[in-house]
Amino acid sequence: MKIAIAGSGYVGLVTGTCLAELGNDVVCVDIDKEKINKLNKGQVPIYEPGLDELIKRNKKEGRLSFTTDLKDAVKKSDIIFICVGTPPKDNGEADLSHVEAAARTIAEVMDKYKVIVEKSTVPVQTGEDVARTIKNYNKHNVKFDVVSNPEFLREGSAVNDFLNPDRIVIGADSEKAINMMKELYKPLKAPILVTNIKSAELIKHASNSFLATKISFINAIANICEKTGADVEKVAEGMGYDKRIGKAFLNAGLGYGGFCFPKDAEAFIRIAEKLGYDFKLLKAVQEINKEQKELFVKKIEKSLWILKKKRIAILGLSFKPNTDDMRFAPSIDIINALQKEGANIQAYDPEAMENAKKILKGVTYCKDAYEAAKGADALIILTEWNEFKELDLKKIKSLLNNPLIIDGRNIYGPAIMKKEGFKYISIGR
Ligand code: UGA
Repeated sequence: MKIAIAGSGYVGLVTGTCLAELGNDVVCVDIDKEKINKLNKGQVPIYEPGLDELIKRNKKEGRLSFTTDLKDAVKKSDIIFICVGTPPKDNGEADLSHVEAAARTIAEVMDKYKVIVEKSTVPVQTGEDVARTIKNYNKHNVKFDVVSNPEFLREGSAVNDFLNPDRIVIGADSEKAINMMKELYKPLKAPILVTNIKSAELIKHASNSFLATKISFINAIANICEKTGADVEKVAEGMGYDKRIGKAFLNAGLGYGGFCFPKDAEAFIRIAEKLGYDFKLLKAVQEINKEQKELFVKKIEKSLWILKKKRIAILGLSFKPNTDDMRFAPSIDIINALQKEGANIQAYDPEAMENAKKILKGVTYCKDAYEAAKGADALIILTEWNEFKELDLKKIKSLLNNPLIIDGRNIYGPAIMKKEGFKYISIGR
């Protein structure tokens, strides 16, 4: 099938590339000329395992191209995915101006039947607004259908998530559009759930909010564990064996970050409010998430007593491993709070330092974990990159001024750390 992707950000690029990999002719569009130039030269603007290779192969085999010309891309396509950004406005609501602009352009140029797919995360009922916009600007008066097909991609494993999904959700009212979407996803072995547009939109909100709830729930349990002497890792394991609960997303830590959960939870609370429902549960989830970082800073303070002029080594800056994404990373709030108290930060992250430099000022960025540890009064782990799990702990101990490790991601066993001679503090243990 012929596909156009409006918006070649994270979601658009992965979706377009993977659809090309499934054998479709895909053109990815973006208004950012520099980004498109780079992509045309084979340079991938984001760090995502496996994406580089897929882009190169599909480009070479002629199934994937990049352009700034949305109009031309729309004319040549059967299905157009709207993957533009929906960033939060000051009041937490999603800014849908890019979605509207894409819908208008599509409407103005389409000259035969098109399926327009909402892929960006949008508030429930946006499908109606998209359809109305297209109807209003439908110059050639052609038939079209709007479909909601939410993405469930995780940064760091987005390519794998796309090609091996748990489910595919198709929200549509027309048989023709449903059949085209089913045909598109036929090569993927996953259950396909067909719903109306609003239910599909809500599945996305509900899924992300539920996952955020799981994280805040286990973090709340971790705090009770600390007060009782229980071990949150064991509690989570014991809970997770119950198939109704499941093991995933029960890792206690510093709370959720990234560009999805924080923004989506805030937006969902606003959507519910507008619809006349006070989503108290999700508000509490947010509150626990915020508190989790504050409690961690308190732990550091308690261990070091005075933070002023203390040298603190930070390992991990990205909001989670395998990404260079710093958006809403817990490291930002934690480092800001430590700097406010006068601590000197020496940090290392395998991928996110370039992005971190734009956000975190006054930090000494180091070439590896050992350089960060050198002369520090404490070593703090903020992201669970695999390489931190395999550090030479004897070397780390010899480099630190004070053998104190405060681990926000529970990557080491407390008994081993004690044996290695560290004062080791973690979450919920
Ligand atoms: C999330 C969802 O997992 C995807 O399904 C969804 O498509 C995406 O948002 C989106 O809406 O676009 P992502 O933000 O990439 O994906 O990251 P996750 O792997 O879900 O992690 C989110 C945050 O939760 C991270 O900060 C992570 O450290 C934290 N987390 C996750 C925990 O603290 N504990 C856990 O057990 C799991």
